[in-house]
Amino acid sequence: MRHRSAIDRLVGRADAVLRAATRTGLRQQRPYPAADVPDEPSLDAAARRHAAGLMRVNHAGEVCAQALYVGQGLLARNARTEAALKQAAREEGDHLFWCERRLAELDARPSRLNPAWFTGALAIGAAAALLGDRVSLGFVEETERQVVRHLDGHMASLPAGDERSRAVVRAMREDEARHAGDAAARGAVRLPRFVQALMARQARVMTTLAYRL
Ligand SMILES: [Fe+2]
Ligand SMILES: [Fe+2]
Repeated sequence: MRHRSAIDRLVGRADAVLRAATRTGLRQQRPYPAADVPDEPSLDAAARRHAAGLMRVNHAGEVCAQALYVGQGLLARNARTEAALKQAAREEGDHLFWCERRLAELDARPSRLNPAWFTGALAIGAAAALLGDRVSLGFVEETERQVVRHLDGHMASLPAGDERSRAVVRAMREDEARHAGDAAARGAVRLPRFVQALMARQARVMTTLAYRL
């Protein structure tokens, strides 16, 4: 009987990963933040290419967010932590749809390396969760803090006049800051400095590659 429930759990986890990878059941819950923002027809080709590169990076980041949250949710020990991770993952799902739409508006494609980002992030999320809920929440808090700083950089770097991309980035930034605060409130432990630095370096590799590929 014990054997059976272990197998059930394993199948349930494999199913959750598959659903996340194929985005089964993921729905956009909130409207596109740029819906009412007029497009800027004067953006030239170079500006549009740069905006597309930044939005491709953000889209790849949201693919990672899906994988991280599902990886962490699978191994969360406490049902409340699991529920909080799931709610955050649904909000990250909106970000994914928003970035996708903005990329399409800029006539650009998502990162070709997305399957690799997804797989790597899934493993990292699961590894964080193995260390227990408070470390896992610490990982969420630090990740989201770094994402907020990164999005601040994008707000400054986006071409002047690209208010549609800015509206998307601004709405995402608000959510990410809240995710960091929620994780802290749930008892996240502060990660050691060297781990924070490692995460930042990892993120830099991803953002550099996703901008181009
Ligand atoms: Fe996000
Ligand atoms: Fe987030």
